[in-house]
Amino acid sequence: MILDGEVLPCGGSVGWRPSGGAYEVAGMKRHRVAVVGATGAVGKEILAVLADRHFPIEDVRLLGSGRFEGRRMGTPVGERSVDAADHDSFAGIDVAFFAAGSDVARELAPSAVRAGAVVIDNSSAFRMDPEVPLVVPEVNPDALDVIDHAGIVANPNCSTIVLVVVLKPIADAAGLERVVVSTYQAVSGVGSKGIEALERETRSVLAGEAVEPKVLPYPSAERHRVIAFNVVPHVDQFGDQDYSKEEWKMVHETRKILADPGLRITATTVRVPVFRCHAETVNLELKRSLDPEHARELLHAAPGVSVRDDPGRLEYPTPLDATGLDDVYVGRIRRDDTVSAGLNLWLVGDQLRKGAALNAVQIAEALIEKHRL
Ligand SMILES: NC(=O)c1ccc[n+]([C@@H]2O[C@H](COP(=O)([O-])OP(=O)(O)OC[C@H]3O[C@@H](n4cnc5c(N)ncnc54)[C@H](OP(=O)(O)O)[C@@H]3O)[C@@H](O)[C@H]2O)c1
Repeated sequence: MILDGEVLPCGGSVGWRPSGGAYEVAGMKRHRVAVVGATGAVGKEILAVLADRHFPIEDVRLLGSGRFEGRRMGTPVGERSVDAADHDSFAGIDVAFFAAGSDVARELAPSAVRAGAVVIDNSSAFRMDPEVPLVVPEVNPDALDVIDHAGIVANPNCSTIVLVVVLKPIADAAGLERVVVSTYQAVSGVGSKGIEALERETRSVLAGEAVEPKVLPYPSAERHRVIAFNVVPHVDQFGDQDYSKEEWKMVHETRKILADPGLRITATTVRVPVFRCHAETVNLELKRSLDPEHARELLHAAPGVSVRDDPGRLEYPTPLDATGLDDVYVGRIRRDDTVSAGLNLWLVGDQLRKGAALNAVQIAEALIEKHRL
């Protein structure tokens, strides 16, 4: 709960971490940055990632719905006040990170672009627009070449990002025939209210009190499900053919990012009572055989991926291990003998980090490297 006058911390549940010192180069141009949704789960993490990576910042503008107008928040360049976002919020801004949902992005991103900013949007509003690049820098950085100085770049869905960084090296080496993915998604995937709901419901269950679910599967529903001590096969609304929107996002976005429109991919997305980090089981049918040892070597060498796979030593990644970390962790790599070239694996990635904030900041870094920012 945020109290009146309290300075909001910069960073999600992990707060400030020691700097990776990854990015800043002496003499580099500094940028004026806006974060729309700075008070939310993703917005706070964007501020933490900008600080961790020494992103070259001249100043930061913090924007929200107006709920926290005037509140002070820590940023990489000192404390700043939160303002209510409107069409005039973007004068002088070079890069605007949007983390406030699709409606806000549709409403305000065009104003930010008109003001001369590059928008990097975390919502699904523009992801499937053929004019808008959908980018994971380890996978398809060249998709950024189509945007001009000002424009919109879409950050993919969190479950999709952690999947494609693992699929890419395997696809390059052995070709993808078919992908079957099932997710185990953390409650922070629905934002700060998901974290609060799991904590509140868990306390109620353990105290033997009646549980009043208010948030999941999504706030607009009349009835809500308990997530504490439960598993819910429902992420986002149901749609075409009874698949959820999250499932369709994984299908369509993976095809767009991998530039493989005919890829046979199917998904089942599930919410689990975990605070942070999404996990996925992935069954792959490949065009050419790839033995598990070779797959481990490829994934070990892939950017943004770490292999934790030693069944003899009971080694595999879990959400608690990956919380606050940048890489996507892979384990349980096994041959699937039911097809001629099959592989099973398990992956875990911090969806607030690589699945959202880190990927967005990496897009901005890639734009700087391409002299487009
Ligand atoms: N959570 C994840 O794991 C995750 C991963 C990938 C992508 N995303 C996407 O990232 C976006 C943000 O998600 P979140 O999880 O951070 O949600 P959240 O914790 O609920 O935060 C929502 C943020 O949006 C702001 N906001 C709401 N209405 C606004 C308005 N009219 N104008 C300006 N700001 C407004 C809120 O500001 P106030 O606090 O001032 O109301 C808050 O800062 C969503 O599009 C989500 O789909 C989330």
